[in-house]
Amino acid sequence: MTQTSRTGRSPRAAAVTAAALAALGLLAAGCTPAAGGVRGTPGASGVQDPYFPRLGNGGYDVSHYALDLAFDPDGGRLDGTARITARATQDLSALNLDLAGLTVAGATVDGEPAAVNRAGDELTLRPRDELPRGTEFTVTVDYAGVPEPLTDPDGSTEGWLNTSDGAVAVGEPAGSMTWFPGNHHPSDKASYEIALTAPSRLAALSNGVRVSTGPASGGRTRTVWRQPEPMASYLATVMIGRYETSTGTALGDVPVVTAVEPSLASATAALRAELPTLLARQQDRFGPYPFGAAGAVIITDGLLGYALETQTRPVFPASSFDRTTLVHELAHQWFGNSVTPESWQDIWLNEGFATYAEWLYAEEHGSVPARDSFLAAFAEEANWAFPPADPPSAENLFDPPVYQRGAMVLHKLRETVGDEVFDELLRGWAAKYRHANASTGDFTGYAESVAGRDLDAVWDVWLYGKDRPAEP
Ligand code: TRP
Ligand code: ZN
Repeated sequence: MTQTSRTGRSPRAAAVTAAALAALGLLAAGCTPAAGGVRGTPGASGVQDPYFPRLGNGGYDVSHYALDLAFDPDGGRLDGTARITARATQDLSALNLDLAGLTVAGATVDGEPAAVNRAGDELTLRPRDELPRGTEFTVTVDYAGVPEPLTDPDGSTEGWLNTSDGAVAVGEPAGSMTWFPGNHHPSDKASYEIALTAPSRLAALSNGVRVSTGPASGGRTRTVWRQPEPMASYLATVMIGRYETSTGTALGDVPVVTAVEPSLASATAALRAELPTLLARQQDRFGPYPFGAAGAVIITDGLLGYALETQTRPVFPASSFDRTTLVHELAHQWFGNSVTPESWQDIWLNEGFATYAEWLYAEEHGSVPARDSFLAAFAEEANWAFPPADPPSAENLFDPPVYQRGAMVLHKLRETVGDEVFDELLRGWAAKYRHANASTGDFTGYAESVAGRDLDAVWDVWLYGKDRPAEP
């Protein structure tokens, strides 16, 4: 392995690194670095998220996923090619991708065959040449199989879900690894292009804008969807099946695509038609809509136990397609999808904000003051199980305290700083971390900088406090 020409690093620096690694016992025996060359090490198999230590991978940063997927609803077989563009963040001798189930037929790095190893949900690729830190590289993975959904720690199912005539793919927090290999942690956002080949009688939807539709072999159609703004992998989605789709625009020129299972079309028509108005109201409140596409997909009950804010195209089981849930999932486009948690511990930044968006909507359009929603949440015993900033384990990430106490934090903040500063804060937060990641510490720091003062009294009780205070 001669890496010298690709490194640009001095032999001395490489020697120091090798010595330091040898001291740590990290150099594999019998594997000597080329003189003056890179001494790459394998990227980590997880980003050490406290709730999901194996999710994500270290050593590289993905900028783009191009997924080419063919699905046969009869056998449930998925045939995929993932083309991943990434940059090495360390000298890499090997890298991991998260992938659950499915069979990998082969992989390349920069066009050269890579050695492939599977162990559980980790796919390890060893490129022929090591990848020096800073290098941009392209990985392709060819894979196939019948995808299996995951059961979350809280018992809900997610991932690739088969329906009677197609499939729905959802991925919060970990399900996307059931249908494509990737760096499946929200801290590594990327743009996407998702091509779906499926029987021509079926609709095939995904995130973003549809860029092409054309015939493919065997009575199939290939539809390509493009999501140019960064997206966390848990927000990637696919819907293949019989859907009635309708198109329109929102916010002037943002294309809207909604799809509905045909038997639900008339019952959902009125609310679907309200989507552009709801988005416009949220844009007034939260600042510019962060994406170049919008929409919603309504599926039959029984497949998915919750609605999900899949980017630009949230998905709703029929029974949860109501105005409040629509407001919630649309608010996530700003809070969660554009401003994305740094780690799963920061999930209240998604759910607390989306719940507060419901309270704001009820205040503005239902004449229920947010203070009343706050008091109702305060009175509810279940909301006091744990502080929103610290869910006890992965199975509690979507429990009531994350949603309701998360929203209570925001209401207390509003009462403390006043409506005007609070409004500025909501918009400013969405603007400052637009298309980026943010942590709870980022939020408290930002709020204090906008308020121009210490807000520990709010955080200590409402964000981190274990017990219900005496006074609401
Ligand atoms: N994030 C979704 C929402 O509130 C809900 C959700 C996603 C969920 N995954 C879950 C709820 C798992 C319970 C269990 O919009
Ligand atoms: Zn939510």
